[in-house]
Amino acid sequence: MKILRTVAEVREAYQGGEVGLVPTMGYLHEGHLSLIRKARQENEIVVVSVFVNPTQFAPNEDYDIYPRDLERDAELAREAGCDFLFAPSAEEMYPAGYRTYVNVEEITEKLCGASRPSHFRGVTTVVSKLFNITRPKRAYFGQKDAQQALVIMAMTSDLNFPVEIRTVPTVREADGLALSSRNTYLRPDERKAAPVLFRSLQAARALFLQGERRREALLAAAEKVLAEEPKTQVEYLSLVHPLTLEEVERVEKQALLALAVRIGKVRLIDNLMLGSGLVEWEEDDYAQDNV
Ligand code: PAJ
Repeated sequence: MKILRTVAEVREAYQGGEVGLVPTMGYLHEGHLSLIRKARQENEIVVVSVFVNPTQFAPNEDYDIYPRDLERDAELAREAGCDFLFAPSAEEMYPAGYRTYVNVEEITEKLCGASRPSHFRGVTTVVSKLFNITRPKRAYFGQKDAQQALVIMAMTSDLNFPVEIRTVPTVREADGLALSSRNTYLRPDERKAAPVLFRSLQAARALFLQGERRREALLAAAEKVLAEEPKTQVEYLSLVHPLTLEEVERVEKQALLALAVRIGKVRLIDNLMLGSGLVEWEEDDYAQDNV
């Protein structure tokens, strides 16, 4: 595995061959590694990017303290099958005078976009740049960040990027907590409380599988579980159309059940797709087994 630091180095590293790209902000965990392994199965060349992207953080957010450990990331990425690790500096990606941004409208204003208004603009800008720099045939995103994956699919379609967007199921701890680099911020008592997110989603899914389709009933089931944990502060709990992210009164074919919850100062997100038919989401075996 080779570590590349500049766009020029990427241009020289490989020519031709089917490339699978896994964009990350590093501090790799099993969630990231499942994306890399999937990319390894499906492509000749696997490129992993590690870049804590400043444009997707608001000034009051955790850009400066976001965990970073490139040496460890390089070892884990190599073991998972990465050929090229692209780890540029902020100056390499955004040199002085940088001025171009990619913005997907509407679906970026909902859910996480409501409390993080410039977040997705930063994500779509950096992912566009990564697509142009690494020229992938396929790019891999986790269902953990469901809205992000949908925004990237919309951008790729709207801007005709010749890239196939592949999604990978959420990898969880044994107690259901979705893996996240930000879990390292949780104090022990907060870590103990954190699985309540997934438990609440599962409660709603259990009702859904019994035939319940009404928004009110499904959300009430999730809310009841969240209310049992006093450390939680719910930012949103939403049942939305899987493509438009508009709130739905009933689940027809498919709906995304998503939430953002603060535990202490740490903001955690999680989601489940209910039903099937509109968005081809890969089967989430863990969650199915646990209902
Ligand atoms: P990051 O949070 O590092 O996540 C990189 C990729 O790993 C994303 O596609 C994310 O959905 C996926 N991922 C994270 N936790 C996961 C889990 N528990 N199970 C499965 N997949 C998981 O998301 C970003 O970085 C950035 O916004 C990025 C797309 C790299 C743009 O800067």
